[in-house]
Amino acid sequence: MTDTYAVIGNPIKHSQSPFIQHEFARQTGQIMRYEAILAALDGFVQTVKTFQQQGGKGMNITVPFKLEAYALATQLTDRAKAAQAVNTFKFRANGMILGDNTDGAGLVRDIEINRGIPIAHKRILLMGAGGAAHGAILPLLQQHPALLAIANRTPAKALALQQQFAGHGNIAAGHYQDFAGADFDILINATSASLQDALPPLPAGLFKTTALAYDMLYSSKPTPFLIFAQAQGAQHLADGTGMLVEQAAESFFLWRGIRPETQTVIKQLRDKLHHAS
Ligand code: ATR
Repeated sequence: MTDTYAVIGNPIKHSQSPFIQHEFARQTGQIMRYEAILAALDGFVQTVKTFQQQGGKGMNITVPFKLEAYALATQLTDRAKAAQAVNTFKFRANGMILGDNTDGAGLVRDIEINRGIPIAHKRILLMGAGGAAHGAILPLLQQHPALLAIANRTPAKALALQQQFAGHGNIAAGHYQDFAGADFDILINATSASLQDALPPLPAGLFKTTALAYDMLYSSKPTPFLIFAQAQGAQHLADGTGMLVEQAAESFFLWRGIRPETQTVIKQLRDKLHHAS
């Protein structure tokens, strides 16, 4: 029987994961199936169990099920524990479910390898304190930045993350205005503001001229954050397309033990998103 994988979410229609995983499989000559599964909002666990019982080998988990996936896993990687969320399952032959989180590693690889910007010794501003920000913190700190500042509209959530990760590096936390007068090398938008075509309330003057402005959202057109960053003089702009492909590559590696080539797939996905808009 062909090894079968799936992405599970709600909604799922616009997921790019099947496209990306099919490209990886074709490129590496792996014989596998990868499908998209829509689960009812109250039907996540049942849908996963059915897929597992039918012989499924692994899954990607997307919105809104990453916390339920974390609870369902019977084993967790360190990075999944740190993120308190799971985006990848590997089903073991003995029925155990390994839960991993490849999102933060995907972000780090996109910044360091695809963009050629080392994180070590850099000053980073991470915007947002929800699930997307949470998953990025440990992988970023593991690259030893000089500072990781976490800004959030609701500062208490940023302060809670600062406490959780205090032992792992130099972290500051607060409201956006608390960072007025500071400047950063790498600014990462991990809020969902771009989904509402909105901009986090950033004070002016945060961007060094060599700064990388990174929006985790992938989109066919520049987000309000990237437009603002450019106007503020940021030299490098990136949306989340590279991160999306890199997190998928990490999942593929966990399942198949082979690291796919990502540059071509990122380019293909950009063209695809552009044509769809
Ligand atoms: P996700 O899992 O995508 O991170 P989430 O857990 O709902 O989603 O978190 C959304 C994040 O985006 C939060 O940090 C939220 O800020 P609050 O904690 O203050 O709500 C942030 N956010 C959403 N819309 C925003 C906006 N218009 N401006 C600034 N921050 C915004």
